[in-house]
Amino acid sequence: MEADNLVQRLGIKHIGIIMDGNGRWAEKRGLPRKAGHPKGAEAFRRCLNSCVKLGIPCVTFYAFSTENWSRPKDEVDALMNLFLSFMDEMMKLSSKNIRLRFIGAREGIPEKILEKMEEAESRTVGNTGMWCCVAFNYGGKEEILHAAKKAMQMYKDDEIDSLDEEKFSSFLYTSGLPDVDLIIRPSGEQRLSNFLIWQAAYAEFVFMDVLWPDFSEADLIAALTEYGKRNRRFGGV
Ligand code: FPP
Repeated sequence: MEADNLVQRLGIKHIGIIMDGNGRWAEKRGLPRKAGHPKGAEAFRRCLNSCVKLGIPCVTFYAFSTENWSRPKDEVDALMNLFLSFMDEMMKLSSKNIRLRFIGAREGIPEKILEKMEEAESRTVGNTGMWCCVAFNYGGKEEILHAAKKAMQMYKDDEIDSLDEEKFSSFLYTSGLPDVDLIIRPSGEQRLSNFLIWQAAYAEFVFMDVLWPDFSEADLIAALTEYGKRNRRFGGV
């Protein structure tokens, strides 16, 4: 399939990407696992540019899950330092007309990172282009629980008297964004790992053998092309 207008022809509104395989990429080269993450950050940068170029309206990257805190301390520290230094780059997304949103629990994020996250988000608030969401300290179950607690509180405060899918969605971190059409997971693993479990109810999944640091624009186009071959029925016939 031609890459020109591919996303428009497929009608894709939102893709999710699980950036997996950094550790294995490093181990394959005899390096410590944490050496894979800066390479993963390069792949993130590359992929973001490709998403803009291809005209994807919204992309969500899985950067750090609520479960990732259980990794060895030196790996978690290395990741936090990487995120902190990367935030300055995220600030510049404003000039590309990208809208940035961090999804996930804010509690538990180191203060220095949180401040930069909020600054980067606020700098892009007036933008009108692609949505770039970064799932950080994110877990799908936590997100649903957080939304349920919000709904309970609003019910108690007489702010809502009923709940439906649309209203519940508006309490999620992805409020206002479309459901996910396609989830891409490189690295050969075939699972969702607590990523966008509500939003991916009818998503197509494309699992690829490439490790995330090697993920290229050609891989993204291959995943979109594979999506184009699927027959989405949303429970119908
Ligand atoms: C999973 O690979 C990756 C992570 C837990 C971290 C993802 C982070 C990045 C790609 C860094 C850059 C992102 C931003 C937004 C700056 P893994 O370590 O579990 O790999 P493995 O499955 O081979 O062990």
